[in-house]
Amino acid sequence: MKEKMDNIKNAALEMIEKATTSHELVDVRVKYLGKSGEISLLMRDMANVPKEERPNMGKMVNELRNAVESVLNEKTAKIEQEEKLARLKAEEIDVTLPSGAKELGTLHPLTLITRELIDIFTSMGFSVAEGPEIESDLYNFQLLNVPKDHPARDMQDTFYVNDNIVLRTQTSAVQARIMQKQQPPIRIISPGKVYRSDDDASHSPIFNQFEGLAIDKHITMGDLQGCLQTFAEKLFSKDTKVRLRPSYFPFTEPSVEVDVTCSMCHGKGCRVCKGTGWVEILGAGIVNPAVLDMCGIDSSVYSGFAFGFGIDRIAMIKYGIPNIKLLYENDVRFLKQFN
Ligand code: DAH
Repeated sequence: MKEKMDNIKNAALEMIEKATTSHELVDVRVKYLGKSGEISLLMRDMANVPKEERPNMGKMVNELRNAVESVLNEKTAKIEQEEKLARLKAEEIDVTLPSGAKELGTLHPLTLITRELIDIFTSMGFSVAEGPEIESDLYNFQLLNVPKDHPARDMQDTFYVNDNIVLRTQTSAVQARIMQKQQPPIRIISPGKVYRSDDDASHSPIFNQFEGLAIDKHITMGDLQGCLQTFAEKLFSKDTKVRLRPSYFPFTEPSVEVDVTCSMCHGKGCRVCKGTGWVEILGAGIVNPAVLDMCGIDSSVYSGFAFGFGIDRIAMIKYGIPNIKLLYENDVRFLKQFN
């Protein structure tokens, strides 16, 4: 029995000595100290030992167990510590390394230009008004002096939802809504989406307009001209000139078309202005007295001016964008240029 114990001890210690991983040490623990491990089984052999020797033998087996266990524990602690350090080393992260670049978004050119336009007009005392994009025929046309079946309807290719509802073709519809609700003085601007059945390099079925309306006592064409001159100088440059040409709109009388000197060549003539030095930017006029009266404002007391332009067109002129579609395709290579 004594010899057997010595053999077990030597074999166990050798196995511990040779072990290089915590897994191998677990195997040692099971093989010798586990429930049916070799040292545990020695206790069962005790039955064959003469009674008087049993206490001594029992003591020796316990000493053997303790000796093996303490060497095993020591080595396990050492190896687990080494394995932990190796794992930490393998997982090491250098927090000082630069991170992968995050791409920041930029404001859309239409957002940029709309904000700039709003800033310009609010600094002149206008405030922003809004209206629905799905609009009744009444506000989009009739109250603006365009009765049903009037030939002036041909000026705009309209998307009809039904006989009385349209996708608004012009932000002028907001004018009629405001005039019905509010007595003068009125000074509003109204940026927003409009829709027309029209599609080429300079027309998109959805685009953005910007409307202006000022109504008060004694408003004249001179006020309109002064307002637009200030606008053009702030939007383009101080040396920008404005010119009014007679035109026709059903809701203004007289009506004008407004040109500014080309911001690309400053009036010398270039590709953008087709060599003329001027670019047309908007329609405007003195609000037709018939419109004032239809909307509940006394035309014998009040007068007003109104204007409207395409925000997309202004963005194209100001940023030199050749095709309106670029504003709606959302190609990041294009959008990035407006940082
Ligand atoms: N609504 C016109 C259009 O879409 C633009 C316009 C012209 C607006 C004259 C006005 C105006 O307010 O007075 O073509």
